[in-house]
Parts: sequence; structure tokens; C-alpha cells
Amino acid sequence: MSKLEFTKEAAKGLEKTYLTRDVVAQRLETIRQLDLSSGERVLDIGCGPGYLCESMGEIVGRHGAVIGIDISTDLIDLCNRRKASTWLSYAIGDATNLGQADASLDAVVCTQVAEYVPDVDRVLSETFRVLRPGGRTIFVATDWDAVVWHSENPERMALVMKSWEEHCAHPHLPRFLAHKLVNAGFRFDGATIFPILNLQCDDDSYSKGLARGIRDFVGRKKDVSADDLSEWHSEFERLSEAGRYFFSTNRYVFKASKPAARTH
Ligand SMILES: C[S@@+](CC[C@H](N)C(=O)[O-])C[C@H]1O[C@@H](n2cnc3c(N)ncnc32)[C@H](O)[C@@H]1O
Repeated sequence: MSKLEFTKEAAKGLEKTYLTRDVVAQRLETIRQLDLSSGERVLDIGCGPGYLCESMGEIVGRHGAVIGIDISTDLIDLCNRRKASTWLSYAIGDATNLGQADASLDAVVCTQVAEYVPDVDRVLSETFRVLRPGGRTIFVATDWDAVVWHSENPERMALVMKSWEEHCAHPHLPRFLAHKLVNAGFRFDGATIFPILNLQCDDDSYSKGLARGIRDFVGRKKDVSADDLSEWHSEFERLSEAGRYFFSTNRYVFKASKPAARTH
């Protein structure tokens, strides 16, 4: 396996991590920026465990629609098991082929998915196609160089993080997103950062789940020794107990809209 796979086991990990206070706060910020109204139709590309879809469903209500697509059968099964309203629907689907009619949506959101798709330009052109003129989109992505994670062994930390970069196709996507959005035809409406800061490695922190995910992925690749990886992982609990834990990263939130059709 060269990239991260969103299997049943990974789905369980995502479900847990995405309920931490950090990721809940990130979702609230995404929703705030998306500025949905009752009755709107919105697509979530790579909806993962479906929490964002559920929150958006509460806003758009029965006269609107939220559609979540994801390439992982396990994650779509999980979403469908919790699905509570008829205006919420889920489907297995690929970000490069959205399976929606042209100009059929008011908004499209894609949070931490585009970096996993080799052909990002195709994701953007598909997003453009399915949005109605005047419709808007939000893409949220991580630049893995923007992680500050304290370790008393910085060389080992660098080795592990270098190996982790291979979990996705574009570990530095935010640097290129504004340009790519404009190339796809969008009006670029600006970008902001959403910071995550953990001074403790506890069950409610994003970085605890991330550390588990990195340990499992890098462990399968075998370019870091099992001992080094185990020490890398166990150091966090020690640092946290000693009050010396530090993790920080940014989410980059890009906003764009499809220009309204010209009237003559
Ligand atoms: C890091 S998770 C983000 C989940 C969700 N968007 C969130 O932020 O809560 C990445 C998601 O992208 C999905 N994914 C990866 N490649 C995809 C593709 N080509 N098309 C659709 N979904 C994809 C994965 O299955 C996974 O659910």
C-alpha cells in the first residue's frame, strides 16, 4: 500500500478523531464560511463519516438537499447507518466524476479530500460544472510542512513526517489551490487559516488520533524501524504528562464562486 486507504478500520479511527473538539470546531468554521440557507442544495465531496453533511442538513432543512459522496464503501455504510433525514443522501462516488447534473447545486464543499486525488484539476472542473452560476465552494486542505510537533528527537520526527507525506497525492496542496481554482474558471473569494493547537495529547485532541494514524501508515511502509516508530509514538504521552507537549497545524480554507451568467 503506497497511499492511505479508507478501510473499515480507518473509518473507525476517522469517526473518533472527527468528534474531537478540534475537528468539531473546524467543521463549525467550515459551515460558518459556507453560509448556507434553508432550501439550498449542497454536495460534500469525500464526506467521510458524514458529520459535516448532518450539520448542513439541519440548516438546509426538508426543502433543501445534502448529498455526500465518498470513494470508501465503509464510510458510506457508516453514514447511511446514522442517516436521520430524508433530504440527506449518500452515495459511493469519485471526486473526479461527481455524478451530478450540470448547474444543479448551490454549494459544494470538499474538506481534506482533494489532496488525496491525483487529478485535483479534474475535481475542480467537476465542482465548477455542477455548481449553478453564482454558486459557491469551499476547499479545506492541509500543508504538511505547516505542522509544528515538538520532539526531543527532531531527526526521528523529520523521518516519520517525511514518510507520512506519502499518505496522500498532494501533501502541499494549499500552495497551489488559489491558482488552480482560477484556472478552473472560478472567481477566487479569498483564503483563511483555521489553526489547531494542542498542548496536551489527550483523547479530545486532534493530534492524538493523527499520531495513531501516522504510526499505522508509516509502520506498514517500513522505512522507519519499528523501534524508532514505537518510541516516536510513545514520546507524546510522556511529553504530555510532563506538561511539555506541543502540536500545531493550520487548515487552509479556500473560498471561490462560479461567476453568475452575464445578462445583456
Ligand atoms: C481525511 S478524510 C476527510 C473526510 C471529510 N471530508 C471530513 O473532513 O470530515 C478523506 C476522505 O476522502 C475520501 N476520498 C479519498 N479519495 C477520494 C476520491 N477520489 N473521491 C471521493 N472521496 C475520496 C476518503 O474516503 C475519506 O473519507
